[in-house]
Amino acid sequence: MTGTVSDPDALRQRALAALLAARERTSLLTTCVEEPELTAQHSPLMSPLVWDLAHIGNQEELWLLRAVAGRDAMRPEIDGLYDAFEHPRSERPSLPLLAPAEARGYAAEVRGRALDVLQSTPFRGSPLADAGFAFGMIAQHEQQHDETMLITHQLRSGPTALTAPDPEPGPRFTGPSEVLVPGGPFTMGTSTEPWALDNERPAHHRLVPPFFIDTTPVTNADYQRFIADGGYTDQRWWAPAGWDMVRGNELSAPLFWRREGGQWLRRHFGTVEAVPPDEPVLHVSWYEADAYARWAGRRLPSEEEWEKAARHDPASDRSMRYPWGDTDPTPERANLGQRHLRPAPAGSYPAGESPLGVRQLIGDVWEWTSSDFLPYPGFSAFPYREYSDVFFGGDYKVLRGGAFSVDEVACRGTFRNWDHPVRRQIFSGFRTARDAGPAETA
Ligand code: AVJ
Ligand code: FE
Repeated sequence: MTGTVSDPDALRQRALAALLAARERTSLLTTCVEEPELTAQHSPLMSPLVWDLAHIGNQEELWLLRAVAGRDAMRPEIDGLYDAFEHPRSERPSLPLLAPAEARGYAAEVRGRALDVLQSTPFRGSPLADAGFAFGMIAQHEQQHDETMLITHQLRSGPTALTAPDPEPGPRFTGPSEVLVPGGPFTMGTSTEPWALDNERPAHHRLVPPFFIDTTPVTNADYQRFIADGGYTDQRWWAPAGWDMVRGNELSAPLFWRREGGQWLRRHFGTVEAVPPDEPVLHVSWYEADAYARWAGRRLPSEEEWEKAARHDPASDRSMRYPWGDTDPTPERANLGQRHLRPAPAGSYPAGESPLGVRQLIGDVWEWTSSDFLPYPGFSAFPYREYSDVFFGGDYKVLRGGAFSVDEVACRGTFRNWDHPVRRQIFSGFRTARDAGPAETA
């Protein structure tokens, strides 16, 4: 099924499947540890898991029961506790939160009612109802918090019952390290994808000069060469605020890495392993990605360069939904959905490559771009300003493409993620780019 499906029954089925898949993942992420682990705060950057659980239910109540169906609040006294803007994450453990069993019960009760609303609501007549947008938005919201909860699990120091098979090893990638993306206009963003969020809209033209982009994400082996070359102690490579971050926190490697016996080790979901050389580097901040690129004599791609590489089909001069075309992701094309708990080796997923041969644009690791998170021309906040609008400006950098941690419902060629440039607890990596000189494009 593609995003251009307009048959209401097909969309209703898709919404139902997306809501059920999200809840299954939420249940797993909140039952794989003992109860005290749900109420503990594992990092000041994160909420207790039990907050995410009740917040998921509360957002679903707000949008599907109150906004779409016009119902009264089930428990108006708890709204403030689960409003992400009322209490910063660091304060959340000290709030009178619902206990795990209550939070589970509340989310389940909301869900039961939401499924009734799903069956009886026409998928037309208002922007929230059209094409089942509110249901798609809520399924994406739950999956976004499922990713947040996976980050919390990675930050926990103890062992976890969360497991998943590693990606199947494929043939070694033997293609070129970079490709030329010819200059010219392309369509960025979307006005037709039914569940695209407000910041992905509207579709608009951008003129992009020619550039070269890496065919694969930067690997751990690549990144270790930067470290070994003194990358973290050489101010030349760093943006001023990045240098302050490195010095102030005495950083010398990605988050979760440590050096032992002449070898790089990392903590990965509660176990310690040798850093796998062929995997895309993970848990780097924007400043680290930016510094690596400068050291390599390159730069990060801008957001529009990334999207052109991921969506533009030179043969048809059209923007596609994904690098491989318009069909939904499959396990052969992209590493998404927490099916694996790590990225696949760089150069994997030949079936997911773009027309120009760029791999792993979707899935595996989020990719930092050089761009600030800004609205597209013609942006309008919908359905609430606190999703995107309040984050626009210079404080956040855009990440693209999703990661192994992201469900396909929340991942598209147009999907935009953002975070502070110092953050590295997220499943972030990057690839590099460079300008194409006139001689190279002729
Ligand atoms: C899009 C991942 C930056 O987690 O802050 C969840 C998603 N928005 N609830 C976030 C989100 C509201 C958001 N990011
Ligand atoms: Fe949220």
